[in-house]
Amino acid sequence: MRPWPSGRVAFGGDYNPEQWPREVWLEDMELMRRAGVSFVTLGVFSWSWLEPAKGEYEFAWLDDVMGLLHENEIAVDLATATATPPPWLSAAHPELLPVDRQGHTLWPGSRQTWCPSSVTYRDYALALTTQLAQRYHDHPALAMWHVSNEYGCHNIPCYCDRCGAGFRRWLEQRYGSVDALNEAWGTAFWSQRYTAWDQVLPPRLTTTFANPTHELDYRRYQSDVLLDFFRAEKAVLTELSPGVPVTTNFMTLRHFDKLDYHQWAADQDVVSTDHYIVNTLQHPRAELAFSGDLTRGLAGGRPWLLMEHSTSAVNWQPVNPAKDPGQTLRDSLAHVARGADTVGFFQWRQSRSGSEKFHSALVPHAGADSARFREVCELGAVAARLGEVCGSRVEADVAILWDYQARWAASGPAMPSSLLDYAAVPHTLHRLLRERGITADVVHPSADLAGYRLVVVPTLYLVTDEDAGSIAAAAHAGAQVVVTFFSGISTQDDHVRLGGYPGAFRDLLGLRVEELFPLMPQAQVAVGDGWGTLWSEDVTAVDCEVLETYTSGPLAGRPAVTRRATGEGAAWYLSTLLDDEALGGLLDRVTAAAQVTAPAQVPSRVEVTRRSGQNGSWLFLVNDSGDPQQVAVTGYDLVSDGRVGPTVKLAPGAVAVVREE
Ligand code: GLA
Ligand code: ZN
Repeated sequence: MRPWPSGRVAFGGDYNPEQWPREVWLEDMELMRRAGVSFVTLGVFSWSWLEPAKGEYEFAWLDDVMGLLHENEIAVDLATATATPPPWLSAAHPELLPVDRQGHTLWPGSRQTWCPSSVTYRDYALALTTQLAQRYHDHPALAMWHVSNEYGCHNIPCYCDRCGAGFRRWLEQRYGSVDALNEAWGTAFWSQRYTAWDQVLPPRLTTTFANPTHELDYRRYQSDVLLDFFRAEKAVLTELSPGVPVTTNFMTLRHFDKLDYHQWAADQDVVSTDHYIVNTLQHPRAELAFSGDLTRGLAGGRPWLLMEHSTSAVNWQPVNPAKDPGQTLRDSLAHVARGADTVGFFQWRQSRSGSEKFHSALVPHAGADSARFREVCELGAVAARLGEVCGSRVEADVAILWDYQARWAASGPAMPSSLLDYAAVPHTLHRLLRERGITADVVHPSADLAGYRLVVVPTLYLVTDEDAGSIAAAAHAGAQVVVTFFSGISTQDDHVRLGGYPGAFRDLLGLRVEELFPLMPQAQVAVGDGWGTLWSEDVTAVDCEVLETYTSGPLAGRPAVTRRATGEGAAWYLSTLLDDEALGGLLDRVTAAAQVTAPAQVPSRVEVTRRSGQNGSWLFLVNDSGDPQQVAVTGYDLVSDGRVGPTVKLAPGAVAVVREE
């Protein structure tokens, strides 16, 4: 066993040697050393190479690769190789293939072509995991286990009969009786009342809008069934390979919402995630920062692993631009700034065949004699210098609440506006706070809110009584709590809370909404000096101060933004999506009330965070602008490897990590 690389930010990526002849492996070792690679993730898609026929294992090649990596002092995050079945397995058991909502079988030929409820698939996967754990548990290169890969990326939801049966078992456990299910799903509606469990099916393609609670429970079930599978693999590893940490790579990107990672996180020995920049987003760098803050929230504030990102272009967007010179370093350190202690990439060597041949890698098609590889080597050198940062924590006084289940419910069928995307409001508020240099932890509503001076509750459509209670308690205890429109509307069964919106937060906010007024595309309503888009609500102030009113549209004269003092803190309500300037102005008021400030005064397009620990504190400065910038700080910059002060100068796109004096 090898400990996870320490004394430096671990640096490396996915290694797929089975795609290359052996002489290339030797070159790989030489280049990995040159680049300062300290870990690789090995074997993610190797099943057909490890078990070419049922029960016939071929480990000799993997022994050789593990041996080479050990000789070169490179730690191995060894995959259980169960992400994709070999063709012989799906040919022998076509029933393990997933089925889409329309009833189409998803055939082999790509990857992750397995049904999440298939016991056959699980049995074969656990057999392979057992073999790997028995063989490599005490291998000197082994540092971590990597279970499967990006669970749920392609194969859920599956709507097959087996998933149907599993769903019914899951429902029986959750509700106990068909009557309780009818109650939870509100089946008095549209003649949907069930009289026996076997009448319940997955929410397959139907004539019109499906039952929203049926849909919601199906998403919960699909996430749970995969978690159960992860736990089964982990149990094998913990038994046969004790002491080696186990992880699976999450996808905390904005567009991925198929798993409830808050349910998954506690089972990870260390939280790891993958992140790719989506070029079509309006604010891709803000999205990267949100992803980091969410991952840290999942890790309970502890450091986490960036398992994959890209040195340059990906291959799965409509257009895949290359990264600018310096961007690989900037992106990597932007993750470290938010708590990553490991920087990994997909993948080591760019494939020459297969559907990812145009996805960038650490070693590009052009080879080691390339600007990209020289940048990779520079990044390796910086990662080695950043060791002292490892283990430190990112400072944050703000919590932004985020809940995958609320997201699922809010994206259910037939809602007030299809323009409302659950991620939009939290991302907007996070982006505006980040522009002010203020770092937020993105956490679940049930998280301990005690340490936060500001708690942001964006479009938390579904909320339990308990979580609503702890949000109110946070305000009472002294936090500024900002609740936005379309929060607190429904219960965990997605039943609307009656008596006026926003049901769960009516008392906390001291107001009552009788009707929702979502806005048409492009429509705006005037609010004070600014504009509201997307949404508006008919708010009656009951026991709160009105800060802004609507001054145009059907709600002219009605409250738009309110505040209610409660206990030691206050609860603010925002009933529309204000433009950036107006919303930023409101956040300035709220952060002043909360006495939350940036760790350093920075120009608006320089991102700043602070990590601190027992042996010091480090200011991370990322210049996201196209201009040179400077920031007042004195200390030692680990990136440029020199003293700085009384200011540090940042070239366009440059990063500094300053150990503060
Ligand atoms: C995911 C996968 C990798 C690779 C990359 C490409 O993160 O885990 O195997 O396909 O995407 O971006
Ligand atoms: Zn299935």
